[in-house]
Amino acid sequence: MHEDIERILIDEGVIEKRLDVLAERVMREFRGRELMVVVILKGALVFTADLLRRLPIPLEIECLNVASYHGGTESSGQVDFLDAKLPPVEGRFVLVVDDILDTGRTLAAVEKKLREQGARKVKSCVLLSKDKKRAAEVEADFVGFGIGDEFVVGYGLDFQGLYRNLPYIGVLKEEVIGELS
Ligand code: IMP
Ligand code: MG
Repeated sequence: MHEDIERILIDEGVIEKRLDVLAERVMREFRGRELMVVVILKGALVFTADLLRRLPIPLEIECLNVASYHGGTESSGQVDFLDAKLPPVEGRFVLVVDDILDTGRTLAAVEKKLREQGARKVKSCVLLSKDKKRAAEVEADFVGFGIGDEFVVGYGLDFQGLYRNLPYIGVLKEEVIGELS
């Protein structure tokens, strides 16, 4: 275990087994369609890569750069779309993939934007969903794991840009959050 990690919340093996189940469900939803997967960068990168390799259906990948945290451990409340151009989703069946559903602002803003751009159907998939009251009214269609309302890193999730490469989901030691903040 990495020295900055206090405890592992979800280990690699458990994540892998759950991805099999999620992939099966996504496949059932989009069978017979040409899917466009919209990855919310950077947090969903690792999760999406592992999920898509379990989806033997025709699909395209688009990325969306969105920021809401600005470095801290609390959502800033503002969702910024950082790309000059949005993915060409008009008429498409879209699966939005994010790492974690927290306040819900990111997913709500992204789904709204994609619908405005003319997506035919928008579904969402998150690896983690925090059990808390959301600031925006939104829930994901596919959820890997429900977790408590605490800050986690690993498997794509970062703190100040670090820890995305950990193969598990873990909780940082308090002193590390203090030092890096
Ligand atoms: P929301 O807009 O508050 O739902 O936040 C979603 C985004 O905040 C996610 O895409 C993550 O990038 C980030 N985020 C939320 N909770 C955590 C966490 O516990 N660890 C790391 N990033 C998080
Ligand atoms: Mg993110």
